[in-house]
Amino acid sequence: SAPRSDPEEPRISAYACQRRTPLDHLNKIFTDASEVLAENAEFSESEGRGLAFRKAGSVLRSLPFAVSRMEDLRGVPCLGEHSRKIIQEILEDGVSGEVEGVLRSERYRAMKALTGVFGVGVKTADRWVREGLRTPGDLLTSGHRLSREQEAGVRYYEDLNCPVTRAEADAIGEIVKEAVHSILPGARVTLTGGFRRGKEAGHDVDLLITHPEEGKEEGLLGKLTSWLDSQGVLLYQRVSEGSGGRGRESGPMDHFHRSFSILKLGEQPGAPPGPPQPGASSAGQTQEAASPRGQGGAQGRGWRAVRVDLVICPYSQFAYALLGWTGSQQFERDLRRFASQERDMSLNSHGLYQREQVRTPPPPHCISESSPPLSLSLSLSSPPL
Ligand code: CTP
Ligand code: MN
Ligand code: MN
Ligand code: MN
Repeated sequence: SAPRSDPEEPRISAYACQRRTPLDHLNKIFTDASEVLAENAEFSESEGRGLAFRKAGSVLRSLPFAVSRMEDLRGVPCLGEHSRKIIQEILEDGVSGEVEGVLRSERYRAMKALTGVFGVGVKTADRWVREGLRTPGDLLTSGHRLSREQEAGVRYYEDLNCPVTRAEADAIGEIVKEAVHSILPGARVTLTGGFRRGKEAGHDVDLLITHPEEGKEEGLLGKLTSWLDSQGVLLYQRVSEGSGGRGRESGPMDHFHRSFSILKLGEQPGAPPGPPQPGASSAGQTQEAASPRGQGGAQGRGWRAVRVDLVICPYSQFAYALLGWTGSQQFERDLRRFASQERDMSLNSHGLYQREQVRTPPPPHCISESSPPLSLSLSLSSPPL
């Protein structure tokens, strides 16, 4: 392979948002390893170590050549000592002993299985593992109290851990579009997340919804989810009210009205899911179980459960919302870091702001009684991720 240390060659940026990163890349053997180590660090709440392995994976995905010797990595940023050691192990032995050890460990396997339940985070999974639980099936037999969200997570475990295809994402998009248009003609529904980046499969479907007439989008989420529920399509949802993008939006998290939901997708992509079943109209206490033990599955049932994120945004913030919801997570993280460290600005899914200064005045309709013009001076001192 060609030498990489050519001083003429442009340096690789330490910001993911400045690196061209193809969907299919040449270093999967290394990025698979860093993914496992990142997960394992996150499972022990070592956020810093997790982030370091995520950054390493991200830069390896952007390399236009397959790494075949350690010298290839000269001048490549974001690779710490530990990551380099793992790469070296793989180059020498074909596998990393450390990664193999993690993959075999009972704790990693149990944490992976339990955090794979929708609604279960690292803290909860860790408590359960220390109590001796190993699989979602154990949750049913142990008699643990589950939140409504976790109950749905267990019920649809098989489906939700089966990757969503592009065709399924498009079919969900069509169902939501039809619903949105029957409620609010002219509204726009955009597929975001991994599918907007061209991925062929994903863990959920991310949909951003807006209307070109600012303000028309208000109240849409409730009507949309009611409509989906009345059609028997809404298996579960948790709504996050936020401020709908009309409050003081600082920090990296956004404040859009949003529904974390599970929708029912019928047999043929795009086909209507059929009439609502009697006595099964309200989400959360619904329908046939998709067993977490394997016999459930979408096959033979005629439908499958799909995780869907529905996000409503005011049109004036659509560009920022689209940028923020397209991902990848590492790209977004570094875009915010770039804004902050290189431009002294602050970026989130609502806008781009001068830091420590007066917020760019929003259009007049954003000024509500509760926030008189004077209080528009908004300090955005909280550091982005
Ligand atoms: N996002 C966000 N706020 C959240 C969740 C997600 O802003 N609470 C944004 C993130 O920037 C993320 C994007 O939405 O990159 C999509 O998130 P997610 O669905 O988790 O990831 P994808 O990249 O779509 O990957 P996958 O295929 O696994 O769904
Ligand atoms: Mn997604
Ligand atoms: Mn994801
Ligand atoms: Mn999502």
